[in-house]
Amino acid sequence: MTVRRIGVIGSGPVGQALADGFLKHGYEVMRGSRDPGKLAEWRQKSGAHASVGAFDATAKFGEIVVLAVKGTAAEAAVAACGIANLAGKTVIDATNPIAESPPANGVLHFFTTFDQSLMERLQKLAPAARFVKAFSCVGNALMVNPQLPGGPPTMFICGNDDGAKSEVKTILTQFGWEISDLGKAEAARAIEPLCILWCIPGFLENDWMHALKMLKK
Ligand SMILES: NC(=O)c1ccc[n+]([C@@H]2O[C@H](COP(=O)([O-])OP(=O)(O)OC[C@H]3O[C@@H](n4cnc5c(N)ncnc54)[C@H](OP(=O)(O)O)[C@@H]3O)[C@@H](O)[C@H]2O)c1
Repeated sequence: MTVRRIGVIGSGPVGQALADGFLKHGYEVMRGSRDPGKLAEWRQKSGAHASVGAFDATAKFGEIVVLAVKGTAAEAAVAACGIANLAGKTVIDATNPIAESPPANGVLHFFTTFDQSLMERLQKLAPAARFVKAFSCVGNALMVNPQLPGGPPTMFICGNDDGAKSEVKTILTQFGWEISDLGKAEAARAIEPLCILWCIPGFLENDWMHALKMLKK
């Protein structure tokens, strides 16, 4: 199946960067918010292949769904999408489980543990959805076709369904990434904390324009 329709759950900067990236690469995109009205300006400037809707309408629209919501609200957002609307679909999970408390010397706090990631919690909530962790370990400004010295950076992904990961790998290749597939959903316990690492230079030195790369022999 050639995927054409992407539902992006998220009115924030990640939702915008990925929605714009999918439009640039020729997909049809619906962006979801609890208040779709606030996305009217984005819809207007984004052309005929862009639309907006509530979370459930957006989840229904997408052949692939992108989850780009605040980590503390991710489970509520998945519920608001309608668990049935996600069944059988690849869900690209860009969320990070960042706690409300402020960073300590640039180090974010998470509300999850090293024994259970946010993506595993979401997968449990929507067992028939095919979650793939991706885009969580880089800032929104570099998510789509990042141009950095040293060539394409590495996107670390994981998920239980190989078919879903294959769809996400196709997208990541279009979006200019090398891919490191770290296996099943449990690997999100390691991938999500890469966000903590990635953010430290930002908080300490206001340096947000970097990405991670796996060097291999
Ligand atoms: N910012 C980055 O560069 C970056 C990079 C990598 C990963 N991430 C992760 O990507 C996710 C999105 O980040 P973001 O910076 O774009 O924006 P954000 O402010 O973390 O999330 C905005 C989205 O969260 C939704 N939301 C907030 N509270 C909610 C609630 N109580 N119930 C349901 N939905 C709620 C909002 O819904 P409404 O539209 O209804 O307001 C909005 O769509 C986060 O998990 C973040 O950690 C961010």
